[in-house]
Amino acid sequence: MKILVIGSGGREHALVWKLAQSLRTEVLYCAPGNGGIADETLASNGGKVSCVDIKADDLEGLLEFVRAHPVDLTVVGPDNPLSMGIVDLFEEHGFKIWGPNAKAAQFEASKAFSQAFMERHDIPTARSGVFTSPSEALEFAASLNGRCAVKADGLALGKGVLMTNDMPGAEKAIHALMTEKAFGSAGNQVVIQEKLEGIEISMHVLCDGKTLLPFETSQDHKRALDGDKGLNTGGMGTYSPAPFLGSDQMDGIRQSILDPWLDGCLKESIDFRGMLYPGLMLTTEGPKVLEFNARFGDPETQVYLMRMQNDLPSLLLACVEGRLDEHHLEWSPQAATCVVMASGGYPEAYLKGKVISGIHAAESHPSVKVFHAGTLLADDHQLRSNGGRVLGVTALGESLEDATHRAYDAVSKIHFETCHFRRDIAAKAL
Ligand code: AMP
Ligand code: GLY
Repeated sequence: MKILVIGSGGREHALVWKLAQSLRTEVLYCAPGNGGIADETLASNGGKVSCVDIKADDLEGLLEFVRAHPVDLTVVGPDNPLSMGIVDLFEEHGFKIWGPNAKAAQFEASKAFSQAFMERHDIPTARSGVFTSPSEALEFAASLNGRCAVKADGLALGKGVLMTNDMPGAEKAIHALMTEKAFGSAGNQVVIQEKLEGIEISMHVLCDGKTLLPFETSQDHKRALDGDKGLNTGGMGTYSPAPFLGSDQMDGIRQSILDPWLDGCLKESIDFRGMLYPGLMLTTEGPKVLEFNARFGDPETQVYLMRMQNDLPSLLLACVEGRLDEHHLEWSPQAATCVVMASGGYPEAYLKGKVISGIHAAESHPSVKVFHAGTLLADDHQLRSNGGRVLGVTALGESLEDATHRAYDAVSKIHFETCHFRRDIAAKAL
C-alpha cells in the first residue's frame, strides 16, 4: 500500500513508525512530518519515509498531492483538517481517507454539539450549560459556586479549558475566554461544566460506523507540572494500561456510554469512521464523559502503538471500508510509558531552536523509542527544538514500573536547553 499520513507531531511520528513496520506498506509519505519522521525506514523494502512540505490544513495542496502521486490510503492525525472537511473533500474525489467526515468530527470541533448530543442520548456527563452571553455564563457558574470547567466551544489545541474553584476564578476565566478572546473565535460560545472529581482516563475506540473496537486503557497527564499543577497542556505523558478499570467496568462503559453513543449516531445519520476518543472521569456516581475527541490522542498514540500487535494499515483500511467486524485488537502484555520533554514555558511562550543531543543513546535500549513532536533538522544538520512539546520518550517494560523506569532512564540521556518534563508520569498507578 502507498500511504500518506497528515500531521507533524509525536502522534504522527508514532503512526508513521507503526505503519512503516507493516510489510503491506510499500511507500509512506508524511505531510509535513518532522525531523524524526523523515528518519524512519520501511520494513518491506528499506525505503525511507518521504516528508512533503504541505501543511496539515492546506486541504487543496494535499488533494493535489494525492492526485499527482498514487496513494491508496490517507491517514489524518490532527483535528483541524478533519473539522475543515478533508475527509469529505477526498471522498468526493474518490480517494480513500481514514478519519471522520466534517459532520462526525463535530464531536471534537464543537463542545456545545457534543454536550447537546449527550443530553439527547442520555450519556452520562457533567451538569453543563452552553453560553454566548458572559452574564448568563456567570449566572450558571454562580449556581455551581464557581467550581467549574470553563471551555471554549471550538478547537484550541487542548488548552481552551480553564478550571476554577470559586467565583472570582470563574469570572476571570469567563472574561478571558469570552471578552478577551484568549482562544480567538473558539471562545465565542463557551460550555460551562460542573467540576467533576475522580480519576481521569482516556479511552480510544475505533469505529467504522457500525462496529466499535475499544482499545485498552491509558492515562494522560494534562497539566504542565508535577502533582497535576499548572496549566492544561496538550498532554505531558501517558501510560498504558491504566489499572483503574476492570473488565466489569469496561463492560459498564460500553453499556452506559459507547453503545448509546453509537445508537445516537445511527439515529442522527452520523457516519463516524475513525477514532472516538472520550475523556472520562471515574466519579463515585460512575464514569462520566468530560469531552469527546475524534482522532488519536497525543501522547496516547505513542503508548498504544508501542503495545499494539495488529497490522495498522489493514486495521485502518478496514475501518474506512466498514469491515472492522473482521478484526479484533491484539495487545502486547507489556506496559508502556511515554514522558513528554517540552520546551520550558510551554503551554505559554517558549523558545525554539535549541540543539537536542542524546537521542541515539536514549534509543540504545531496544524497548525505547523516542518519538519526535516538535523537532526540525536545521540547515546546519543539527536536530533542534521546534515546538512546545519536543519529544515523547516511550518505553515498554514487563511491568508499568519497568516501563516507567526505562522511559525516565532514556530521558536522562537527552539534553536541550530549557527542557522541561514531568517527573511523575504513571506515579498514580504505581
Ligand atoms: P477537555 O479538553 O474538555 O478534556 O478538558 C481538558 C482537561 O480539563 C481534561 O482532561 C480534564 O483534566 C479537565 N476537565 C475538563 N472538564 C472537566 C470537568 N467537568 N471536571 C473536571 N475536570 C475537567
Ligand atoms: N492527550 C490529549 C489529546 O490528545 O488531546
